[in-house]
Amino acid sequence: MDIARTPSNPDGNPEMADAAVDPKNPPEIRREDYRPFPWIVSETRLDFELGIDCTRVRSTLTISRNAKADRSATIRLNGDGIEATSVTVDGEPTQSWVMDGDDLVLTLPGDAHEIRIETEIDPSANSQLMGLYASNGMLCTQCEAEGFRRITFFPDRPDVLSTYSVRMSGSKDRFPVLLCNGNRVATGEEGDTHWAEWHDPWPKPSYLFALVAGDLVARSDSFTTMGGREVELNVWVREGDLDRTEHAMESLKRSMKWDEEVFGREYDLDLFNIVAVSDFNMGAMENKGLNIFNTKYVLADPETATDGDYDGVEGVIGHEYFHNWSGNRITCRDWFQLSLKEGFTVLRDQLFSADMGSEPVKRIEDVRILRGVQFPEDSGPLAHPIRPDSYREISNFYTATVYNKGAEVIRMMRTMAGEERFRKGTDLYFDRHDGAAATCEDFVSSIEDGAALDLTRFRRWYSQAGTPRVGVTLEHDGETARLTLTQTVPATPGQSEKQPMPIPLKLALFDRASGTHRGEELVILNEDRAEVTFDGFTEKPILSINRTFSAPVTIERDVSREELVFLAEKDDDPFARYEAMQELMTGHLVADVTDDVDDDEREAVCEDIARAMRSVLEDDQLDDLMRGELLMMPGATYVAEQMLVADPGRIHARRETLKTALGTRLAGSLQELYARTENMPFSLDAGAKGARKVKTLALAYIAASDPAKAVELAARQYDRADNMTDRQGALMVLAGLDSAERTGKLLDFYNRYQNNALVIDKWFAIQAGSLHPRAIEHVKALRDHPDFTLKNPNRVRSLYMAFAANPAAFHAEDGEGYAMIADLILELDPINAQTAARFVPPLGRWRRIEEKRAKLMREALERIAAAPKLSRDTFEQVARSLGRG
Ligand code: BES
Ligand code: ZN
Repeated sequence: MDIARTPSNPDGNPEMADAAVDPKNPPEIRREDYRPFPWIVSETRLDFELGIDCTRVRSTLTISRNAKADRSATIRLNGDGIEATSVTVDGEPTQSWVMDGDDLVLTLPGDAHEIRIETEIDPSANSQLMGLYASNGMLCTQCEAEGFRRITFFPDRPDVLSTYSVRMSGSKDRFPVLLCNGNRVATGEEGDTHWAEWHDPWPKPSYLFALVAGDLVARSDSFTTMGGREVELNVWVREGDLDRTEHAMESLKRSMKWDEEVFGREYDLDLFNIVAVSDFNMGAMENKGLNIFNTKYVLADPETATDGDYDGVEGVIGHEYFHNWSGNRITCRDWFQLSLKEGFTVLRDQLFSADMGSEPVKRIEDVRILRGVQFPEDSGPLAHPIRPDSYREISNFYTATVYNKGAEVIRMMRTMAGEERFRKGTDLYFDRHDGAAATCEDFVSSIEDGAALDLTRFRRWYSQAGTPRVGVTLEHDGETARLTLTQTVPATPGQSEKQPMPIPLKLALFDRASGTHRGEELVILNEDRAEVTFDGFTEKPILSINRTFSAPVTIERDVSREELVFLAEKDDDPFARYEAMQELMTGHLVADVTDDVDDDEREAVCEDIARAMRSVLEDDQLDDLMRGELLMMPGATYVAEQMLVADPGRIHARRETLKTALGTRLAGSLQELYARTENMPFSLDAGAKGARKVKTLALAYIAASDPAKAVELAARQYDRADNMTDRQGALMVLAGLDSAERTGKLLDFYNRYQNNALVIDKWFAIQAGSLHPRAIEHVKALRDHPDFTLKNPNRVRSLYMAFAANPAAFHAEDGEGYAMIADLILELDPINAQTAARFVPPLGRWRRIEEKRAKLMREALERIAAAPKLSRDTFEQVARSLGRG
């Protein structure tokens, strides 16, 4: 096919603004270039003749002109690495089309047409796991964001909504189960093949299309909605996995009930299917009526899944189910609006998990992720607003900023409105935009109108990147306490000037003598600076601020250690109490790393931290889940984030020193805690989960102060364990200490679970994440292990993400860790670009790392950049990381 001409942006779609793509400089797509698509695709009919290495796809599109868009003489159908074997318009073969890059552009004379296109694809050759691919002998799809165009030519953009009717046929033997979106309307068979027809009555964008064909079995159940609709529920897995699906099914039913009760949202089909696949780029996908999940977020039983895994399954099942309203019924106008569905749905899954378990513990976990992942993103070369202005590859924008900061921004609206008014806002949003493709602006306007809030200035949270810094001072004079608040939003790539944003801060002032306060207040800092006074304080009160982490900001304040110890012991807001503990430890670590704290000083600080911890250990009002949070040390990345330029080696060393000091000082209480929790019988209730959490935490402190004792306890814990949480916890502690038990238990673990891929993933991750001094050697040996493969994203992540997050090994002084990640990226890029690109950000931190390592990190990035051929995904991340975005 020769290219007759290169139409420049014929349909006004920003995604197609530049036609000829230079792989060394992929075009930038800009939010401001958005134009509606000139055509409406009212109906899409698909016919699949399924085969693992050859699937034929016939698609029939019923199209008409979109009166709300500029008229165009052509229709651009996106493709990605596919070829048309036949094109007809209104039943006649046609020559009036050209290939423009990967896209097919058809010239159309009239206002309404029927287009038929045939393609042939090879799912077995699809290692990118986007589009239609083979996993373990089954066929499945992943279409978000732009995978549908790898299956057939189509206007693959989220504002083109269409109803889908799908027929699929294939071998009865290989594909006994045939699934698609919506409802199954007919089935039949001829010889060894059989077929099924599916119809989805709800118009949807192509990214929500899904198809699954394979040898699967289901756990089935049903749910009756508030309106009385009986919904059939199935969780589909491979034969041997059925007895690990109970938790997923229970989580699904709880999600459905919760969304009715809390957001008034009812399910809208008679069928809801979940399928678990073992090769999957992400966690899970919300395809209409047919969610596809990474096995990691479906399968769970006590023997193979940790308490964290159980929570993960519940949270992700909830998340994808909640998308049925926040994502599917109301979708995104364009991919710049991704946070519209993801930020909101993350908030919804967070609230759900909080309601199912411990609200404060869930809040702390979510803040830890935000500060450990999103804050570094927001202060580095990849910083972007929750609604980005431009991108080269959309897959790179499924970020902690869009997801987690996006959720925080909506949470702030909820905090300012209060729960009831916020619900009025979301009701209005669902009413106004049901069935449509919407924008973040539509969401904010709905909350504004429904909740009666003025969000004019608040909208800046959508357009400004960077974590605001809030300066706090409290002065006391006579009977008045005067609080001065200031804010600055740091410069980020492409945004040097920032404007103040409304920051809702929950606070309380504690009376030193009684240890109580007069009630929590919500102060909204709207300007660069504000002063608030509080009367009736004869003595200077102690300030507790940003309670519940009411705003995603960094608080900068002069606070004495004595005040922090007070809050760590007495604050009635569990988050603020946790925060005080963290601040005590972080403050000390930062000082220790930069100033060389002298021995007396170190002694005094450690004693203060130990005193606060002792009160946590002895507080019988606390449940163990919360106790565990209060005893946890801040992560090395979080400590590094507090410093302009960090020395990861020193941070790690000082953090270990503090751990040892605390372990030594608290030895008695920690052993008591261990003894109290060691033999608790297994159950999934909060008490037993809490016991398991503090048990392994105690073991980790004991390991830092008395390794021999820890080896003995850990080996016993490993042997006696009747659940994965205890067994993995013990193995993690052993993996960090040299001993015969280390080798023996690692071998035992491997042998015990060699047939369970998800557990073998843990085995890889435990070793790659270990603080063992020779972890780097272990990782090198593991990449040559027969069970290691670059083809399976879970396996790649279990070895290399764990390694990139290893504060010691990854930052090895000679740069070997950086080189290993660069090697991985180069090798993985042609196989799975999306996954490869996700390893770039750890190297992109170089500007905030001490000189010697920074140079080595930059060299690793340069080596990737110099590769003759790179995917768009990796190219974009490397270019931005080097400041050449
Ligand atoms: N829609 C996404 C899945 C997705 C992400 C598809 C990126 C294509 C590209 C899904 O709803 C999602 O957000 N999944 C998360 C888990 C969730 C609990 C945050 C994931 O897969 O990590
Ligand atoms: Zn999502």
